[in-house]
Amino acid sequence: MINDKKVLFSGMQATGNLTLGNYLGALKNWVALSDEYECFYSVVDLHSITVRQDPAVLRKRARALLTLYIAAGLDPEKNCIYYQSHVSGHAELSWILSCFTYMGELNRMTQFKDKAAKHADNINAGLFTYPVLMAADILLFQSDVVPVGIDQMQHLELTRDVAQRFNAIYGDVFTIPEAYIGKTGAKIMSLQDPAKKMSKSDENPNGSIYLMDDPDTIMRKCKRAVTDSMAQIVYSDEQPGVKNLLNIYCACSGKTPDEAVKEFDGKGYGEFKMAVGEEVVSVLKPIQDRVKELEKDKVYIDNVIKNNAEKASYYANKTLRKVQKKVGFPERIR
Ligand code: TRP
Repeated sequence: MINDKKVLFSGMQATGNLTLGNYLGALKNWVALSDEYECFYSVVDLHSITVRQDPAVLRKRARALLTLYIAAGLDPEKNCIYYQSHVSGHAELSWILSCFTYMGELNRMTQFKDKAAKHADNINAGLFTYPVLMAADILLFQSDVVPVGIDQMQHLELTRDVAQRFNAIYGDVFTIPEAYIGKTGAKIMSLQDPAKKMSKSDENPNGSIYLMDDPDTIMRKCKRAVTDSMAQIVYSDEQPGVKNLLNIYCACSGKTPDEAVKEFDGKGYGEFKMAVGEEVVSVLKPIQDRVKELEKDKVYIDNVIKNNAEKASYYANKTLRKVQKKVGFPERIR
């Protein structure tokens, strides 16, 4: 608990351009949770270098992501928004936890297997121990809840196992975190292939709406979205393209699928797609405007970066000192 609130931790990587799916599936939830919890939202740049990055691009994207957190509605006075690399406790705790994590456990991680297959020329040790660093992120702040997508659940389970193992040896050191799976359910799929998740690394840029796409681009992508020849707007698995567009429409407007289906009863796909596009624009445009405003204020963003890194370090060091003492590292002489 911090300030009588439960602690929440989550993070995103600044690799690729964030999509509408990332916003609706994650960021939007983060904003909704930010009053109830004491939140730490990190730009997890240590994780990013498990895959080869262009340094200038990574630096630029990390700043863009941090700015986007704020633009999307996370108040940096109330939420700790910071770069993982600015808080050395992440790496330090990760090392200690790696000595309490078994090779067998890491070998079972499906994301490692997927990434190893995708980056066969660079299967580095960091890619393998990635989940340990993620455990360190979470445990460093004694987090109670962690909003994550389904694809990260296995890592969260591992985090809980490692924390319990550590606690069993040394007493109650770590809070055991729970996953928070967002209520606003529906996964957003590719506009070009509704069987695939909308992804920031899609080779076909028309499949994804990027958060910084301008209104014309958004409208064009919606108009080109793949549907079917059934010429009816119903919410059904038999019409995955239409269903996905309805999900997008509902997530953006707050309407239920039933309401939306009624609204478009008897209308054609052309008109429907336009309405979806307009709804997306109305959600993204204010965020984009705010990003542009914030980008002009370098001093403000720099201050957020500095102050929040200090705040995060303060809480991180509390946990880290306790852990270091438990495992038997010598006390610091002051
Ligand atoms: N691995 C997460 C992802 O790629 C990002 C992440 C890193 C994270 N550390 C975390 C998410 C801690 C939640 C909690 O999506």
